[in-house]
Amino acid sequence: MKTTIANVHKHVNETVTIGVWLHNKRSSGKIAFLQLRDGSGFIQGVVAKAAVSEEAFEQSKNLTQETSLYVTGKVVEDTRSPLGYELQVSDLEVIQEAVDYPITPKEHGTEFLMDHRHLWLRSTKQHAIMKVRNEIIRSTYEFFNKEGFVKVDPPILTGASAEGTTELFHTKYFDEDAYLSQSGQLYMEAAAMALGRVFSFGPTFRAEKSKTRRHLIEFWMIEPEMAFMDHEESLQMQEEYVAYVVQSVLENCKVELETLERDTAQLEKIKAPFPRITYTEAIQFLKDQGFDDIDWGDDFGAPHETAIAEAHDKPVFITHFPVEIKAFYMKPDPDNSDVALCADLIAPEGYGEIIGGSERIDDYELMAERYKEHELDGPAYEWYLQLRQYGSVPHSGFGLGLERTVAWITGIEHIRETIPFPRLLNRLYP
Ligand code: 4AD
Ligand code: MG
Repeated sequence: MKTTIANVHKHVNETVTIGVWLHNKRSSGKIAFLQLRDGSGFIQGVVAKAAVSEEAFEQSKNLTQETSLYVTGKVVEDTRSPLGYELQVSDLEVIQEAVDYPITPKEHGTEFLMDHRHLWLRSTKQHAIMKVRNEIIRSTYEFFNKEGFVKVDPPILTGASAEGTTELFHTKYFDEDAYLSQSGQLYMEAAAMALGRVFSFGPTFRAEKSKTRRHLIEFWMIEPEMAFMDHEESLQMQEEYVAYVVQSVLENCKVELETLERDTAQLEKIKAPFPRITYTEAIQFLKDQGFDDIDWGDDFGAPHETAIAEAHDKPVFITHFPVEIKAFYMKPDPDNSDVALCADLIAPEGYGEIIGGSERIDDYELMAERYKEHELDGPAYEWYLQLRQYGSVPHSGFGLGLERTVAWITGIEHIRETIPFPRLLNRLYP
C-alpha cells in the first residue's frame, strides 16, 4: 500500500511503499541507515543485508543524496526517533539518481544558499519554517472564519497608493499608469461597508531601499477590516488573533519547533491581553533608557523597538502616534488631534513591528481636507472618498506582516528564510 511519512502511524506493522528522497545515509558492513524525506516528514529506513536482495543492498549502500526512490518496508515503532516510527526496508526502486547535489549537510555561506534557494528549501530547517508558515496561514483562516469574517481579495494592480507614494512599483496598464499594491486596505474598507467584517491575504510590494533583516520587497499581508468597530475593539481583535495563531503553532508544529530549537516557553506566554503604551510614553521610556537620538515626532528605529519589546514578555501595542508620521486615513484622537487612533504591535525578542493598524477617518469633511493636504486629487481616489458619503460608519482595521510573524514564531534571525523565494534588495533569483 502506498502512503506518506506523515501517515505511517496508520500502518504500524504493515508493509507500505513511500515515494521519498534520500536525505542522508550511514552504512556499515551489514546494515544501511537511510534518512528519508517525502515532504510530509522525515523517517529512518533500515536496510539489513539479510532482509533484502543482494542487489537492493548494494544499491542502498551507494545511494546519493537527493536521489528519488520508492521504498517498501514494514512500519515499526521506534521511540528514539522524533516521528516515533522507522521503516524496515524490504525493497527499493530508484526513480532518478542525483549526482553531486550542491547542498551538503556542511556549512555554506548565505549567498551560496540564497543562490540555491530552490534546493535549500529541502533542508530540515527550511522545511520546518515552511510548515510553521503554513500553520500560521491555516490558523488565520480558522480564526477569522470563526469570528464571522468574509475573505475578500483586493486587486494587486491598482491606480492608488495606500501607504505613501515613494515606495511604489510602477508599471504600464495599457495607456494608464498602474502600481503594484502596497496594501489592500483601501479596497478592504469598501468591502467592509458591503460585508461587515472582512479579511484579505495577499502579496504586497514596497520598493523600499532598506537592506535589513526585517524588510522584504514582496511580502504577504493579512488585512482585516471591521465595520462598527472602534480603535480599542480592534486592539482586542488583534491580540486575540495573534494569541490564537501562536497557540495553534505550539499545538500543531511540535516537531518543527523542536527542529528549529525554538524556546517554546517564550511562546507559551503569548495570551491576550497584551500590554499597551502610548507613543508619548514610549518616547519618555526611551529617554529614560538613555536614548538621546529620538524626540517626540520621530519614528522609531529597530533599536528603539527592540528596547521597548525587551521591557515586556508579550507583544506590546504602541498607540497614539503623531498624526504627522502616520498615513492620511488614520482617525485623529478626539481628545488630542495631534495623535491618531492607531497602534503598532511590536513582537517580543527584537522581531520588530508585526502589525500596523488604526481606526479610519469616517467623516467626509475631514477626509476631504486630508485629500487636499496629501494631494490625493486624482480620479484614482474618488471612490475612496465616496465611501464617506453613503452611510459612513466607525470602522477599524489592521495589517499583519506574515513573514515578520513567521520570523518571530520560528525564532529565525533573518526574514529571508521565512518566504519560499524572497525578493530582496538586489535579489530576484531564483
Ligand atoms: O504598517 P504597514 O505599512 O500598514 C499598512 O500597510 C496598513 N495599510 C495595514 C492595514 O491597516 N490594513 O504594514 C503592515 C505590516 C507591518 O506591521 C509589517 O509587519 C509588515 O506589514 N511590513 C513588512 N514586512 C516585510 N517587509 C516589509 N518591507 C514590510 N513593510 C511592512
Ligand atoms: Mg507600520
